[in-house]
Amino acid sequence: MEVLTTRKHDRERQAVVKKFYIESYGCAMNFADSEIVASILKETGFAATPDYTDADLVLINTCSIREKAEQTIRSRLHIFRQAKRANRGMLIGVLGCMAERLKSKLLEEEKLVDLVVGPDGYRTLPLLIEAAEGGQKSVNVLLSREETYADISPVRLNSNGVNAFVSIMRGCNNMCSFCVVPFTRGRERSRDQTSVIRECTALFESGYREVTLLGQNVDSYHWYSENEQDISFAMLLEKVAAISPELRVRFSTSHPKDITDEVLFVISRHENICNYIHLPVQSGSNRVLQLMNRTYTREWYLAKVRRIRELIPDCGITSDIISGFCSETESDHQETLSLMTEAGFDMSYMYFYSERPGTLAARRYADDVPEAEKKRRLDEIVKCQNRLSQISNRKDIGSISRVLIEGDSRKSQADWMGRNGQNKVVVFPKQDCPLVKGDYASVEILDCTGATLIGRAI
Ligand code: SAH
Ligand code: SF4
Ligand code: F3S
Repeated sequence: MEVLTTRKHDRERQAVVKKFYIESYGCAMNFADSEIVASILKETGFAATPDYTDADLVLINTCSIREKAEQTIRSRLHIFRQAKRANRGMLIGVLGCMAERLKSKLLEEEKLVDLVVGPDGYRTLPLLIEAAEGGQKSVNVLLSREETYADISPVRLNSNGVNAFVSIMRGCNNMCSFCVVPFTRGRERSRDQTSVIRECTALFESGYREVTLLGQNVDSYHWYSENEQDISFAMLLEKVAAISPELRVRFSTSHPKDITDEVLFVISRHENICNYIHLPVQSGSNRVLQLMNRTYTREWYLAKVRRIRELIPDCGITSDIISGFCSETESDHQETLSLMTEAGFDMSYMYFYSERPGTLAARRYADDVPEAEKKRRLDEIVKCQNRLSQISNRKDIGSISRVLIEGDSRKSQADWMGRNGQNKVVVFPKQDCPLVKGDYASVEILDCTGATLIGRAI
């Protein structure tokens, strides 16, 4: 009898399982946060659905980095609102950086939003959802000095089972004048090293073969506790690399002012730490770098690039670049182009400057480069990078790359797609290659396009 009643309860419980849908924008940290949110919701009895029209709770994890990012999110919210009109019980929640930036203003601007939760408030989601179900508009945008969600095991979303992101810190203490992140993510704090190692080990044991350690400025990772030795980023990197030689380790992002020789030595000592550094420069002009508050000069940056190549000769180096920052002149722009060429970036993420309310630049400097000019300069930066990427890829022809297979190539199921240590995408025929996703392949590079290396397994 007892068993029957329990089964009946189980069936009832299953029948009322609520469904959530989550969509993520912005940087890898936001995608990693969505996996923490999924874990919290799962504990609360929610199950994930890939179809928002069918969800009881629709969440959008947002980015504020540029105005365009916020526009994209607003247009998604319009679409969700229409779905809510057809399904009155649906709750819509805005998470992440735009929630933090706009706070309760979002509820006024986007009338059908029920929940607004900033990056440090996800543990309170169950309570906020309950309040919203009762008809209250719920907001939690408190930033924390301690929260790292260290004890929460992320539920992997849209995962290929090969690569995973692991957050090692949150927030940012650098006040780059153009950047909204310190305002939306709060103060920098590092995550307990043991929980980082535990998560990476569990990933490896469940078949993952690559982890990317994430932070806005990984080089300032610093874990200290009373009875243990202090742990720097270099030490953490070494510990993660020691989990298994079959686990590839990447990290992002490095700040040129903070990356140390110690980190470079650790990379060069470990085969499984990828020879790849994302080292955003932002501009090639010392005057602009100073206005941006990046705290390094062009000469310092280029010396860092030389040092990397000296210690790790085949290191892939990529960058972020902003065109048309406040007061940028044509000659400043030319300096950016010449720095790119001198550094020989393998790839870059390139943007035109977008003023963000509340940032140092918005308060202090006029956003005075006309949009058409920003775009023209950006176009030249993109063309310069395309040329550099071609040169970089051509150099690889004839070499042999160790490629971690991530899945089918986008263009053809007859080809594998993976990346080499330098983070370049490599495509090669599956034919005669008895390998599976998650295996490493030795690939001879035969040809290239601007963005991809093409080869054959040997
Ligand atoms: N923490 C990383 C970058 C985080 S944001 C770092 O310090 O390098 C990612 C990139 O977005 C930045 O490197 C910058 O190039 C770009 N970005 C940030 N704010 C921007 C703005 N207001 N307008 C245009 N691009 C911006
Ligand atoms: Fe923004 Fe600068 Fe921090 Fe990067 S280091 S997140 S650009 S403030
Ligand atoms: Fe965007 Fe926030 Fe990341 S502003 S880039 S999602 S830290």
